[in-house]
Amino acid sequence: MGRFMSVFTIAYHSRNLIEEQTLDSTAEVQRLLEQSRARNERLGITGALLFNEGRFVQVLEGDEAAVLEVMDIIRRDPRHTDIDVLPSRYVRERTFAQWSMAFVGVSPQAKNYYRDFSLREKLEWTSSTTDLLAALILDLIMVQGAVVPRRPRAQHHGR
Ligand SMILES: Cc1cc2nc3c(=O)[nH]c(=O)nc-3n(C[C@H](O)[C@H](O)[C@H](O)COP(=O)(O)O)c2cc1C
Repeated sequence: MGRFMSVFTIAYHSRNLIEEQTLDSTAEVQRLLEQSRARNERLGITGALLFNEGRFVQVLEGDEAAVLEVMDIIRRDPRHTDIDVLPSRYVRERTFAQWSMAFVGVSPQAKNYYRDFSLREKLEWTSSTTDLLAALILDLIMVQGAVVPRRPRAQHHGR
């Protein structure tokens, strides 16, 4: 690919098993995000994870080999199942350049937004859906904010 379409993007949706496996699902999601952020930062991957109504929707973007490597790890994760990967795509620039893994959780806004979106798109997963999903998640981040900043905050301030 030329320098103009250099960002490999993949998206999938899956069924979240965390709620049936874990008592403290909030803590488990937090752990998942911390793991994700660590590896994604190392591999130069950015993206976003939407968690809604028992399903995850995730968009990953970056170098093709790196994204496929992470996708392989994610596929084997027992915290979700019924993983449906959308056709991948090369795009000009990152949608989530600021986030190693932005997280959009359950909120009334997110629910409404997602429902309208699914109805509008009838959840037909084509390669353009990857772009649409990225746009949807970015909209949600703008509306309600993302939980995970791109740069890890210094946990210890030398105190
Ligand atoms: C829905 C979902 C999304 C995930 N997204 C990522 C991700 O973007 N990057 C990542 O490295 N791991 C992600 N993971 C976690 C990996 O499957 C794996 O558990 C983790 O990377 C292992 O980290 P560790 O080698 O530091 O223990 C995700 C897992 C789930 C269930």
